[in-house]
Amino acid sequence: KRPAGAPDKALARPVTKVGVVGAGLMASQLALLFARRLGVPVVMTDLDEERVTTGVESVHREVEALLEKRRVSPDQASFLTRAVTGSTSKDGFADADLVIEAVFEEMSVKQQVFAEVEAVVSPECVLMTNTSSLSVTEMASRLEHPERVVGFHFFNPVAVMPLLEIVPGERTDEATLATAFATGKALRKTCIRSKDTASFVVNRLLGRFMGEYSRIVDEGTPVEVADRAVAGLAPMPPFVLLGLVGPAIALHNSETLHRAFGDRFHVSPTLRRVVEAGKRGYYLTDERGRPV
Ligand code: CAA
Repeated sequence: KRPAGAPDKALARPVTKVGVVGAGLMASQLALLFARRLGVPVVMTDLDEERVTTGVESVHREVEALLEKRRVSPDQASFLTRAVTGSTSKDGFADADLVIEAVFEEMSVKQQVFAEVEAVVSPECVLMTNTSSLSVTEMASRLEHPERVVGFHFFNPVAVMPLLEIVPGERTDEATLATAFATGKALRKTCIRSKDTASFVVNRLLGRFMGEYSRIVDEGTPVEVADRAVAGLAPMPPFVLLGLVGPAIALHNSETLHRAFGDRFHVSPTLRRVVEAGKRGYYLTDERGRPV
């Protein structure tokens, strides 16, 4: 049965090579997921060699962990280690069928990235954005082929979280949307079609939830107390989750929602101070969001 809002799957284009713009936390998890579930080569790009190497190394570490847990066979592990490569140049995208960006959450940066990608890729190549809050329509608006752009929003940790938000912009065509749904299915995610409104569905809900928790802390309840209050209710205490998502992203999300929907969404002064102080969260956490 077709998921609600999914287009005719006969329109989906085959994906034989994937490009990932960015080699950070989300991008490297995406690169591994695409290589593992689609069985295709994936090239990651970033601004300098150091970032590219860090991203590729984190993929290699994760492949090692999967091998140790016997989640992949030695042959699969060896394929994955070779399949994910990194570069500072986008030339490797020339023969990609799909390129996904997971760079800094800022409209002008993402528009610039897509313009650079469009200069390299074929006219049919699908361009996906992993944005969690920005308008897909606006991001595509300056491109020669805005019809090939679609939102493809994953959740951290990418390997574990089942949901994928697929977000067509105003001009996204059916072939692009069909390719997005077929790819999401191949990645074994539960796909939902979200409207291109601020923060789509999930981060809008999460924004209300985190906004109320932030308000409680702004009013003087200690973070540890607020976190303990959800024991058993949520898989992760809210401020541990905030460390996993990243305080800058969480602040950006609340600001986007406040701009779009007004006072229903709270922008926390405490969170702003955490971001301005350059902290990674209210707690110090490891890379899996666990307090250390
Ligand atoms: N990368 C890869 N795998 C990871 C991982 C990571 N960062 N973190 C956990 N895992 C894996 C573990 O290896 C383990 O896998 P195995 O079963 O193969 O061993 C599995 O996940 C379960 O992990 P744990 O046993 O360590 O811990 P847990 O049962 O407490 O689950 C969790 C950890 C899945 C992260 C869980 O705490 C959870 O669901 N937290 C909420 C996460 C969430 O809400 N994410 C959405 C954030 S919002 C977002 O990302 C959107 C945005 O745009 C801002």
